Amino acid sequence: MTKAIDIKPLTNELPSHFADRVGQVYAKSVTTQHKKDNGQFFTPTEIAHFMSGLVRQTQDKLKILDPGCGTAILSSSLIETLVKRSDTIKEIELVVYETDKDILPFTQATLDYLSKWLKKNKIKFNTTLDTNDFVLENKECFEQSATLFFEPKNAIYDIVIANPPYFKISKEDKRATVAKSIVWDNQTFTQSL
Ligand SMILES: C[S@@+](CC[C@H](N)C(=O)[O-])C[C@H]1O[C@@H](n2cnc3c(N)ncnc32)[C@H](O)[C@@H]1O
Repeated sequence: MTKAIDIKPLTNELPSHFADRVGQVYAKSVTTQHKKDNGQFFTPTEIAHFMSGLVRQTQDKLKILDPGCGTAILSSSLIETLVKRSDTIKEIELVVYETDKDILPFTQATLDYLSKWLKKNKIKFNTTLDTNDFVLENKECFEQSATLFFEPKNAIYDIVIANPPYFKISKEDKRATVAKSIVWDNQTFTQSL
C-alpha cells in the first residue's frame, strides 16, 4: 500500500491537483464500507475549481474554514484561485476539520505542500488540522446568536468551503442532539455540516 509520505508533488503541480492525486491513492487503500461509514466522496478538481470561482473576496488577510476536508482539495483549489486572481493577499489562515484518522497523513501531505506553494508565492500561511467532530465542536452555532460568519460581531471565518458527508444518523446521535434546532425529521436526519 502506498503511504502518504511516498507521494511527492510533481514539478509546478498545483496543490489541488496534488490533493486529488493523494485522494485517489487514499481511496484505493480503504474499503467501500469505510468510505460509506465516513460519508467519504471526494470532490473532483473541476467541481472544486468551479466552487472556488464563485467566491468573491476583497481582504488581504483571510481566515478560511474547510470542515470535513478529506485531502483538502476544496481549500487548496480556493486558495489557488484567490491567489491567482489577486496580488494583494498577504496572509491566509486555514482551519480544516477531519475525523477519519486513516486519511490524516494524506490530508497533512496536502497541507504541507500548500504551505510550500504559498511560501513560494510570498503569502504568510497558518493552518490547523482539527481532528475533532466539526458539528460537536461548533455546537454553539446551532443557537440563534452564534454563527461561523456573516455577522460582524461574531465573525470567525471570512470564507467557508465544504462538501459535507451525507449519511443518516439516529435522533439519539450526539450530533443530532446538538443540532436539534435544525432537525425537522423525528426519526433521522441527513447530516449536513
Ligand atoms: C463528502 S467527504 C468530502 C471531502 C472533501 N471535502 C472533498 O470535497 O473532497 C466528507 C469528509 O468529511 C469527513 N467527516 C465526516 N463527518 C465529519 C465530522 N462530523 N467532522 C469532521 N469531518 C467529518 C469524512 O471523513 C470525509 O472525509
